[in-house]
Amino acid sequence: MTEPGMRLRSSKWFAGQDVPGFVHRSAMRASGFSRMAFEGRPIVGICNSWSEVVNCNMHFRGLADAVRRGVLAAGGFPLEFPTISLGEQMMKPTTMLFRNLMAMDVEESIRAYPFDAVVLLGGCDKTVPAQIMGAASADVPAIVLTGGPASPAVFEGKQMGVGTDLWQAIDKVRSGEMSMADYDRLEAAAGPSMGHCPEMGTASTMATLVEGLGMTLPGAAAVPAMDSRRLQIGEMVGSRAVELAREQLRPSQILTAEAFDNAITLMLTVGGSTNAIVHLLAIAGRVGVDLDLDRFHELSARTPLMVNVRPSGEHLVEQVFHAGGIPAVMKAVESLLHTDAVTVTGKTVGENLPATSGSDKSVIADIDNPFKPPQGLAVVRGNLAPGGAVIKCSAASEELLVHEGPAVVFDDMNDLMKRFDDPELEVTPDSVLVLRSAGPRGAPGMPEWGQLPIPTKLLRQGVTDMVRISDARMSGTAYGTCVLHVSPESAVGGPLALIQDGDLIALDAYKGTLEVRLSDEELDRRRAAWQPPHPRHQRGYGALYVDRVLQADQGCDFDFLVGRSKNPENEPEAVFDGWIGGW
Ligand code: FES
Repeated sequence: MTEPGMRLRSSKWFAGQDVPGFVHRSAMRASGFSRMAFEGRPIVGICNSWSEVVNCNMHFRGLADAVRRGVLAAGGFPLEFPTISLGEQMMKPTTMLFRNLMAMDVEESIRAYPFDAVVLLGGCDKTVPAQIMGAASADVPAIVLTGGPASPAVFEGKQMGVGTDLWQAIDKVRSGEMSMADYDRLEAAAGPSMGHCPEMGTASTMATLVEGLGMTLPGAAAVPAMDSRRLQIGEMVGSRAVELAREQLRPSQILTAEAFDNAITLMLTVGGSTNAIVHLLAIAGRVGVDLDLDRFHELSARTPLMVNVRPSGEHLVEQVFHAGGIPAVMKAVESLLHTDAVTVTGKTVGENLPATSGSDKSVIADIDNPFKPPQGLAVVRGNLAPGGAVIKCSAASEELLVHEGPAVVFDDMNDLMKRFDDPELEVTPDSVLVLRSAGPRGAPGMPEWGQLPIPTKLLRQGVTDMVRISDARMSGTAYGTCVLHVSPESAVGGPLALIQDGDLIALDAYKGTLEVRLSDEELDRRRAAWQPPHPRHQRGYGALYVDRVLQADQGCDFDFLVGRSKNPENEPEAVFDGWIGGW
């Protein structure tokens, strides 16, 4: 129950003895909830991204039940609600196209219903950032519970990740090293349980960053999906949500500039997915934190790779869990964190840290003996990417991080798929592969096409990496010398649109430069002749997306969703306060 004198947000729906109060209580009782169950108690929404078409989140009904137990035990009342869910493997053309749609769904569901706090149940890549973006804008007390990494697959005696090993297997099939029969056996073995990808792909990265941001309980990120301790954490998260409702600790008080620094530091420490850059920029935009690409470059210059986990290392997230999980990682880099940042526990990062950084130094290193030196990520700029682009140096070939070569240009994904197998393709190992029309507006939705396939004729010669440049993203489980997120993208007339076969492109990841060896006059001449592409979507959400999405360096949010509301009295919740919306 609430303390005397405390006014819960939900009391606007349930406390009045007027007609609206009657209607709202009646609706609850129609669902079988007695007044004793909900009246005067903090109402905790459980925002569940469960879906049968999102295999990574398929265990969320059980997880929601655990949260429910925790809420009830702490004296609150749980109400579960669904939102759209985004499944990385099944959803077409790309989940990123729908991240903002889910964020809007989450935001408006939270705002429109009588929740005093929410638990955000997310797992598969985009579900977590979408939920945080929505909750940050609604700014009702919120806590995240991620689904945990899936059990690792084992194939021919070797423990596997999902993405990294799959990409390698595909290359082996193409080069003739793996038979189709073995490929089929691999397919059957690849996903032995529910849960998100078990390596440090985008989902595990985002789960890690949720701990870094202070938006979940310490230790919650790495507990395996099928481990009973995940359900126990679910109960604790539910219980904490009730306290959050009473304390009125809101996302805007937790998602500070210091919290984003901590999250970026953790991302670099674990060799996390470049997708997290786009998501962090978008979340920061929602809460008015001034974050830009340069901050990633600055923090990268001082942050080493501390965790030996795929794709930058050899272990899976499960081993990180057994080595102490993300709290042990944070302890190891304590000197790089803002330890006074407030977290959803009500305590600071420093107060949440364990006493030691764990004992298995083969998984979580000491700061004075890291696995790889700083600069696992670089932001590059120049006349090819005036707004910036990113490269994950820790997953690239060191000898290609400084490289100059002639461009081989693919106009879009269809062009790439048609020609990369062509034995007549004019390409050498020194060529720089360029893909355009793969950005937020061009694709649209900025799919994970940035790990362009090595042309088959080079693959057969044993070439395993080349410099590749695009305005696309790349899977968190992918690897290679791939310059990503080129901004502005080609579809809005960015310089990538002007490149022709044979133009010399120079990358220097250490200096942070990406240049095409063309004069300003030549670029201007080509720009004057450039014709914008016809938008693929003429109606509906796709048209809205293409019309209002921001560039990658601004997080690909919609322009109208950035920032705090300037007129809170015009928010739907305030407009309908005290009314009956319908009957
Ligand atoms: Fe869902 Fe990787 S496909 S987390």
